[in-house]
Amino acid sequence: MAFTTALEFRELASQDEQQAIDAHHAMLADDFEFLPTWSEDQQWEEFIYRMSAGRRGENIPDGWVRSALFAAFDDGELVGRVSVRYELNDWLLQKGGHIGYGVVPEHRRRGVAAALCQFGLREVQAAGVDQALVTCDSTNAGSIATILKCGGELDQQFPHLDAADGTRTLRYWISTQSNR
Ligand SMILES: CC(C)(COP(=O)(O)OP(=O)(O)OC[C@H]1O[C@@H](n2cnc3c(N)ncnc32)[C@H](O)[C@@H]1OP(=O)(O)O)[C@@H](O)C(=O)NCCC(=O)NCCS
Repeated sequence: MAFTTALEFRELASQDEQQAIDAHHAMLADDFEFLPTWSEDQQWEEFIYRMSAGRRGENIPDGWVRSALFAAFDDGELVGRVSVRYELNDWLLQKGGHIGYGVVPEHRRRGVAAALCQFGLREVQAAGVDQALVTCDSTNAGSIATILKCGGELDQQFPHLDAADGTRTLRYWISTQSNR
């Protein structure tokens, strides 16, 4: 099904609480946190304030970097989200990358992931990042296809990172210059 309108990308707001928490619960089945660092006992207003402060580079915990969370809406309906890290620390350089996205199950296979990734690329480019690191599990066919569609190329020196539990993380770089 095609989009009824162009996707709207913005930070989460007060009125998004129910949709966002529903998406968070729906995606735990994918072992994916739609609302990173959110917990059931946290007030929604506190969470969105913390996300917004993080985007401005305020109140960042030690060892963390400036980051933001953006949601994508199709005609008011929440369809996905993208996390953007504006710089890399050691862990992000190895495994986390600059950009992470997830699409609400009923909105998959419509190009939302690629749109989220492109949005993330524009966002980090505006912050001065020329090459964005985007990583994914080697078994995640949808994410691999998304990254390749956005121009990802495997890191030449360390194309993957293997964990002790047998999982493999693929490490791709995407030029933000060609994604405006
Ligand atoms: C992976 C995920 C983000 C893909 O989202 P999506 O909106 O369905 O992806 P898109 O519609 O933008 O598709 C992008 C490409 O991936 C392909 N694709 C999507 N899902 C796929 C799947 N399950 N298997 C194979 N290819 C897939 C599409 O065909 C498309 O390629 P094409 O344009 O060449 O046909 C989504 O399944 C998801 O949120 N999964 C759980 C969270 C997650 O894994 N996030 C990524 C962490 S790195």
